[in-house]
Amino acid sequence: MNKRETYTPGYSEVAVRYMKRRYAARDAAFALPRLKPGMKLLDCGCGPGTITVGLAEAVTPGSVVGVDLEPSQVALAEKTAAERGIKNARFEVASVYQLPFPDCSFDVVFSHALFEHLVEPPAALHEIHRVLRPGGMVALSSPDWSGNLMAPRDPEAERAIEVLMAIQKRNGGNPYVGREFGRLLQETGFLRIGLTARYDSYEDVPLAAELLAERIEEGAGKQVVTSPDLDRAEVGELCRSLRRWVKHPAVLFAQAFVEAIGYKEP
Ligand SMILES: C[S@@+](CC[C@H](N)C(=O)[O-])C[C@H]1O[C@@H](n2cnc3c(N)ncnc32)[C@H](O)[C@@H]1O
Repeated sequence: MNKRETYTPGYSEVAVRYMKRRYAARDAAFALPRLKPGMKLLDCGCGPGTITVGLAEAVTPGSVVGVDLEPSQVALAEKTAAERGIKNARFEVASVYQLPFPDCSFDVVFSHALFEHLVEPPAALHEIHRVLRPGGMVALSSPDWSGNLMAPRDPEAERAIEVLMAIQKRNGGNPYVGREFGRLLQETGFLRIGLTARYDSYEDVPLAAELLAERIEEGAGKQVVTSPDLDRAEVGELCRSLRRWVKHPAVLFAQAFVEAIGYKEP
């Protein structure tokens, strides 16, 4: 594992519940029309596997492997697949920096909401490129936090988001990685690059805000708050503001995701 990054969301009950709300028909909609029955697909950073199982359905009778650094997530993904009767998906503990597969093993490599946490996206992309067969496709989706929409406007809640972004950067991630995808894919040698963006409009804003508040509190507890003038009391106040803000009767929290497709040279 790369030692220079820390996975900001963590694996609390709230974090896992937040990831489990995702599904392929929405979160992988940009990739699904390009998947064909019989393909071999790798999902990097599969988390609890709720997207992975939809990808497995799309490539049946092909197969899907989901990898995640965290054993608890691999166990959850196995449970998700078993509960949904998905037989063509298997899961392994592995890092995107060191994929335990020979060169040219997959037709498609997919990754959703992983790259914003990586300190070395180019190294991860070279590894993805290695395991793709000639002509194979990479499909990435990650947020770009500059596209956040929060309503009603609330300076304290907006400040809380800024603090969280600072924590993510301090942990080695990049909240703006979405807009870097085109350049990163190009520099890795991928061809026919296509970029799109979509909004993830959180249907459960209190859950999303609770995860953010939890992460800020945890980040502050570990003294990774980046702003020297931000003390613990202010952290507490920001989190209270975030939790107050979500109680507004007409609240909107939507996040921009950049989606990228690229192909390995034939
Ligand atoms: C935000 S979650 C996304 C999970 C899933 N793809 C989704 O969108 O619902 C990111 C996942 O990537 C995993 N992860 C973090 N660093 C990783 C690495 N270097 N290699 C593989 N997985 C990693 C985390 O353990 C976490 O489960």
